[in-house]
Amino acid sequence: MNKKFISLLVVLIVVVAGLYWAFGLPRVGDPEIPASTQAMANGEYLYNAAGCAACHQVDGAEGPVGGYEIESPFGGSFSTPNITPDTETGIGGWSGRDFLLAIKHGRSPTGGFYWPAFPYRSYQGMAVQLDDEWLEHHGRLSGR
Ligand code: HEC
Repeated sequence: MNKKFISLLVVLIVVVAGLYWAFGLPRVGDPEIPASTQAMANGEYLYNAAGCAACHQVDGAEGPVGGYEIESPFGGSFSTPNITPDTETGIGGWSGRDFLLAIKHGRSPTGGFYWPAFPYRSYQGMAVQLDDEWLEHHGRLSGR
């Protein structure tokens, strides 16, 4: 093997590793969604403390049905999605994995990237780092 080939191989490995790091889905496991009364109360606390309603529950809506438009400085706007327990329009059908991927890593269940208008980067840095607490939050949102 000559030197050129080895250098090329090293560059290729670095590029592939970089792409995997940037686009690969983080491992969050497939945790259970807690449903106890205490879990619902903790989830509600987190919902209020993290200000989810500010963007997802607007204009006197009953729940976090979304529809709030956020202007982008780059043009266009984002509309917040429905995060109610509805299994068709909301996140009632989401697994614990789906929820953790979204709230902690800004990734959709199919692996897409959310715009940071959804402040998942801030939620990543919250003192509440325990997955269990986020899952309680999802349990409360998805009505389990
Ligand atoms: C500053 C506004 C804002 C706040 C606060 C906010 N979100 Fe969002 N959220 C968004 C936007 C905008 C999107 C859509 C992003 C996109 O389409 O790329 C989103 C997307 C989501 C999604 C993905 C839903 C789907 O159908 O794909 C979930 C789940 C979610 N938010 C949950 C939450 C939770 C839980 C909280 C509170 C802990 C929260 N959000 C707080 C703006 C916000």
